[in-house]
Amino acid sequence: MPDEKYIPRLYGRQQDKPLKPRQQRLMETLAPRIAVPLNETVEGPIDLQALFPQAEEVHLEVGFGGGEHLAWQAAHHPKIGYIGAEPFNNGVGKLLGLVDEGRLENVRVHHGDARPLMEALPDASLARLYVLHPDPWPKKRHHKRRMISSWFFGEAARLIRPGGELRVASDIRDYIRWTLMHAQNASDFEWTAECAADWKDRPEDWPQTRYEAKSRREGRPPAYLVFRRK
Ligand SMILES: C[S@@+](CC[C@H](N)C(=O)[O-])C[C@H]1O[C@@H](n2cnc3c(N)ncnc32)[C@H](O)[C@@H]1O
Repeated sequence: MPDEKYIPRLYGRQQDKPLKPRQQRLMETLAPRIAVPLNETVEGPIDLQALFPQAEEVHLEVGFGGGEHLAWQAAHHPKIGYIGAEPFNNGVGKLLGLVDEGRLENVRVHHGDARPLMEALPDASLARLYVLHPDPWPKKRHHKRRMISSWFFGEAARLIRPGGELRVASDIRDYIRWTLMHAQNASDFEWTAECAADWKDRPEDWPQTRYEAKSRREGRPPAYLVFRRK
């Protein structure tokens, strides 16, 4: 069981500029069609079979930013259902653009905090969970706002089926250490890396996001951490 509850609203800004007209239109037309049904009227675990009738398995990306990684995965794996959670309006607008352009039928979006969504998903319902470059919250007094926490690892253990993966990327050394420390305390996961290349080199099925490209330009190559659910 997770030993702590998250604090609400750990994200900062929700919008930095007005949506482009096309994104605004997609927000009104496409977003309601692909929204994950999560509100006070929905009781019990979300019905993933109803959400993805054709999917062989389901993956969740927490904090998808501009959605580049999620859209790439969805385009390359049409038989997998992808759920993305992101509170930032401009990020959701960008993902909707990619879903529309790529005619991606296998993407569903939760426009909001990923954590209530995680709590509403059924046990062992995910084959993979991604958290790529979570907000670092560098100040010590803000560490409790970090997405990776013992609560998070507890929920991830409940949600990811045995043999499934938790993938975390970060370009912040302290956050990488933080994640490995939490993983070490989470007995349901094992870190798959056997040598430095396993976490330093990007796996082939892990496309670069714009955030990652920026961190590389600024001299902060990321770590690609893959944990297997035992
Ligand atoms: C540094 S950005 C990285 C975005 C993206 N994963 C990438 O690699 O480009 C962190 C993202 O996490 C999102 N985020 C923060 N708190 C969140 C929460 N509680 N639930 C879902 N997403 C969250 C932010 O809005 C932001 O888009």
